[in-house]
Amino acid sequence: MATPSPEQVIDNQRQDWNRVAGGWEKWDRFFDEQMAFLNHRLVGDARLRTGLRVLDLGSGTGYPAILAAQTVGVDGSVVGIDLAEHMLTVAESKAKRLGLHNVTFKVGDVTILPFESASFDAVTSRFCLMFLPDIPKAAAEIVRILKPGSWVAAAVWSAPEKNPSISLSMTAVKQVIDLPPADPMAPGIFRLAQPGDFAGMLERAGLTDITDQEFLGEWSYGSTNEYYTSLMEIAAPIQNLMATLSETQRQEVKHLITNAASQFQRGIHITFPIAVRIVAGRRPG
Ligand SMILES: C[S@@+](CC[C@H](N)C(=O)[O-])C[C@H]1O[C@@H](n2cnc3c(N)ncnc32)[C@H](O)[C@@H]1O
Repeated sequence: MATPSPEQVIDNQRQDWNRVAGGWEKWDRFFDEQMAFLNHRLVGDARLRTGLRVLDLGSGTGYPAILAAQTVGVDGSVVGIDLAEHMLTVAESKAKRLGLHNVTFKVGDVTILPFESASFDAVTSRFCLMFLPDIPKAAAEIVRILKPGSWVAAAVWSAPEKNPSISLSMTAVKQVIDLPPADPMAPGIFRLAQPGDFAGMLERAGLTDITDQEFLGEWSYGSTNEYYTSLMEIAAPIQNLMATLSETQRQEVKHLITNAASQFQRGIHITFPIAVRIVAGRRPG
């Protein structure tokens, strides 16, 4: 299969995440409750405090943009940027429901930030940067729009074997059909899993005081069925894999996934370990 051009990658990303925006809205409360600790970690690592102007990259349905807005308060402001307008519609309605007037969402590409140089006091990003066709370009853009002395903090997925809630679906698909070996450099869920990879890009882009830590946690589902359904409704890359299968193969994969997930039963929940790489750095000055 031909390698998609950067423009095709961006276009596919926009279509993929717009397609699953309804699923993200449906499961919003669940993921909000299960993943809030990551937002708090990013808000801390980006050193957010009252009055700051923050840019959140790939906000999707508002994470961590909404917590960032609550943290910087009425004297501060947050802009969330994302390719997928339907994801942002969910974020906007949530911000409205929470009575937040200091957060706005803008459709756009993280690799060409439509903002003036040195115009933000901090940058945050959760689970977006590994999907970009040109991550060093985004790193350069982050450095450009940060004011001197200010911080970026980003979360990306760590290694597949440490994130079974994501990787066991891929393993199941591979048991049913032959998949070509994944290109580790291609945009995708685990593209930035290697220690030092994104940190090195930030360093080469000119940031200092860089930290790169694997942050371990857990999340719990009520049942294997809840896990399977949510995965299929929100994980665009996994939906894409499933779309290549026949109905019989899909049923086989479902059986393999729920069976593998049942091994994570602890008490009344299915509890998965997760491993997230948290990378932060500061623009000198
Ligand atoms: C897994 S979702 C994460 C959303 C949110 N940050 C969260 O953690 O819940 C990935 C998001 O990155 C966005 N995205 C992917 N590539 C992008 C790009 N080049 N520019 C802006 N957003 C992008 C997608 O549209 C999608 O909303």
